[in-house]
Amino acid sequence: MCAPTYYDVDYVINPWMEGNVHAASKRRAGEQWNALYAELCKRASVRLVDPVQGSPDMVFTANAGLKFEGEVALSRFQFAERQGEAEWFERWFRRAGFRVREMPPEMPFEGEGDALWAMDGGPLWAGWGFRTSLESHRRLEEWWGIEVSSLRLVDPRFYHLDTCFAPLPNGDVMYFPAAFDQVSRQSVEVYYPQQRRIIVSEEDATSFCCNVVCLGDELVMNHVSIELRRDLESRGFVVCETPLDEFLKAGGAAKCLVMTLSSAARENTKTEKPEKAEDDRQVLSACAD
Ligand code: ARG
Repeated sequence: MCAPTYYDVDYVINPWMEGNVHAASKRRAGEQWNALYAELCKRASVRLVDPVQGSPDMVFTANAGLKFEGEVALSRFQFAERQGEAEWFERWFRRAGFRVREMPPEMPFEGEGDALWAMDGGPLWAGWGFRTSLESHRRLEEWWGIEVSSLRLVDPRFYHLDTCFAPLPNGDVMYFPAAFDQVSRQSVEVYYPQQRRIIVSEEDATSFCCNVVCLGDELVMNHVSIELRRDLESRGFVVCETPLDEFLKAGGAAKCLVMTLSSAARENTKTEKPEKAEDDRQVLSACAD
């Protein structure tokens, strides 16, 4: 994670930021981030990357890159406003012992914000259409010999995959189908049988319920309706709400504020571990030294 020291809405690169330039409260953002951090620290080992002045969106570490085994595919940010973050994230990954792969300049790729592992060892679900290029998905397949299932995003409010799609640790998926084109909706339906699909309402989707951090059976999110909470609880999950509305003003919530470096649900560290590998506990993200 990355502390919100320099967080603000300084520009508009997604619809949530419109009308919110400089509208976020620094104090509330700090309190909300601290509460999320404290919640995650109960179940995970959380590492921090130093915030950088002039990179207000660096708090959204899901966009730092995507980790696979001992490597990280670094983000190639679509917009100039965020491109300066890449070198800081790269420096952190290298110091932490990861090998770093870089997409060519013409292949935008926004990391875990647009790439989520099916929790049951299935494909990597990857979004495209707003921030991440389809070509970058093929590049991940070539690099890592993995299967990438591409999903096309069509609603600008859900510009990253992690805003509208969440593979859950028990093999279910929670998502907002209207954010995808028809072919992509079909791929999800082919992969997940009906009883495994949790379709969320527009209201839950716009509260960023799909932007969830999964820690075993605990699901940490900004807000959830009573109906969705009941559904998730009936599936054995413990739902933890932690308000993150100051970050919604920039178009992000719980999952966007986190990058996953290892996961109990999907341990993709089959071969080499990074030099300074952590213990076996879940490691969420990255800390300056
Ligand atoms: N303001 C940031 C942007 O538009 C928010 C990023 C949210 N991150 C995410 N993984 N969805 O890039």
